[in-house]
Amino acid sequence: MMSARVLTTSRLVLRELRPADAADVLVFRGDPEVQRFDDPPIKTVGEARALISELRRAQRIGDIQVWAITEQGIDRVIGLVTLQHPARRGDGYHRRAEIGYGIARSRWGQGIGSEATRAVICHAFETLKLNRVFARTIADNHESVRLLERLGFAREGLQREHSLEDDGRFHDSAVYGLLRRDWGYPPLDPDTET
Ligand SMILES: CC(C)(COP(=O)(O)OP(=O)(O)OC[C@H]1O[C@@H](n2cnc3c(N)ncnc32)[C@H](O)[C@@H]1OP(=O)(O)O)[C@@H](O)C(=O)NCCC(=O)NCCS
Repeated sequence: MMSARVLTTSRLVLRELRPADAADVLVFRGDPEVQRFDDPPIKTVGEARALISELRRAQRIGDIQVWAITEQGIDRVIGLVTLQHPARRGDGYHRRAEIGYGIARSRWGQGIGSEATRAVICHAFETLKLNRVFARTIADNHESVRLLERLGFAREGLQREHSLEDDGRFHDSAVYGLLRRDWGYPPLDPDTET
């Protein structure tokens, strides 16, 4: 698969993630607060480089699309948005993908997460012709839940005590879904649109 297409919003440019972004990626993927409900924080630029090459490899084989979030005119990476659609899960056939996001903590509360995620969702419905975008989030990850609700995702289910987190407690995991018709896109004809 080709690299993810560049997406532009009023404040942001979402572009391909590159090896040279390792130091920027370490800032947020190395922050225990950002990673509180996700993979453990990485510690070194070397680990950031390995993470980038793993994401790029997954993108090449078509399992994921990754966007590095930068601001217009400032080519520094302040977060990532991902769309996962591994063939082994049948996501391509079902026209669905799982969205993920993370933003550098110093930039929280400025609407950047919503703006970047909205751009990827538009791309998913308009260009990729998906029918469904979904997210899994720890139910008490308030920032993430607010972001999803603001974008119109519906809470579809709760997996009770699905994840053991760093605080030593089991946390509920929530599934959120957004359909193309929820955003006013016309229905797909799966026989003609791939
Ligand atoms: C979840 C996360 C991506 C949200 O990022 P964010 O950029 O702060 O989120 P938003 O874009 O939704 O903005 C948050 C606040 O900014 C406000 N905002 C929106 N647009 C704005 C603008 N143009 N200017 C200033 N503030 C704005 C919103 O109203 C919102 O406030 P509220 O939460 O009180 O309603 C971020 O908290 C994060 O990286 N968390 C850790 C990673 C994580 O948990 N990922 C999900 C794992 S499943």
